[in-house]
Amino acid sequence: MQKENNGLHELEVSKVRHWTSSTFSFSCVRPDNFRFRSGEFVMIGLEMDNKPLLRAYSIASPNWHEEFEFYSIKVKDGPLTSKLQQLKAGDNILFRNKPVGTLVNDALLKGKRLFLFSTGTGIAPFTSIIRDPETYEKFSEVVLFQTCRYVDELGYGKSTIESIFKDEILSEIVTNKLRFFPTTTREPSQYSGRVTDWLKSKRFVEEIGSDLNPLDDRAMICGSNAMLNDFKEICLERGLKEGSNSSPGQFVIEKAFVD
Ligand code: A2P
Repeated sequence: MQKENNGLHELEVSKVRHWTSSTFSFSCVRPDNFRFRSGEFVMIGLEMDNKPLLRAYSIASPNWHEEFEFYSIKVKDGPLTSKLQQLKAGDNILFRNKPVGTLVNDALLKGKRLFLFSTGTGIAPFTSIIRDPETYEKFSEVVLFQTCRYVDELGYGKSTIESIFKDEILSEIVTNKLRFFPTTTREPSQYSGRVTDWLKSKRFVEEIGSDLNPLDDRAMICGSNAMLNDFKEICLERGLKEGSNSSPGQFVIEKAFVD
């Protein structure tokens, strides 16, 4: 069901999945005639006290997919997420049909390797980008990093990666090109530590083969303000220039949704 009211549409929720006590994902019936670039965000929300309460959410599904998916944190007492986490299939959310954002292939110059650095729900735009065949036309290697405090918070990313490798068409496109490094900082797991620390030590080169360089490498960064600043500083130090839609560059950043 889709109704329109003051530029806002109502979208029906088709699926909700709770991943941890602090994260969940939900899908909506994709709006008719809706076009976006993988990695973009839209304003979504709920009506509260007869007013729309909207926040920016990255679209976690790729632009060709019939599912229209979001991945969200649950903030205790957060004005929107405390309500949004109660969604069930059949409920409606509000949505503004105006996709925007800088975490898009268009904002990056052509390169060889694409690094996607995320923490927590900052992985959402990247689960869109890694499922878009255009990404693999532009880059011969795509490396996704997600850092979380605990192992269970990595479930959404791991499950998306598994679904990609199980998909007949996508698996053919991504095999030998896509790599995923899920890391934890407060519990041991296969990979540990902040990726900023990997970049500042030998660890990054040990895992990846060579350091970030402006000739071959492009990066997208999504997380908290502090995380963005730390990665941005490292990219600038390595000689990468920040890009935007109007002036493509070697790395782009965007803040992940927080409350
Ligand atoms: P840490 O456990 O060392 O703080 P948060 O929930 O605070 O946003 O953190 C999510 C994940 O991102 C945690 O694993 C955290 O590591 C890591 N993190 C937080 N701040 C930064 C930063 N400035 N640079 C890199 N990683 C960060």
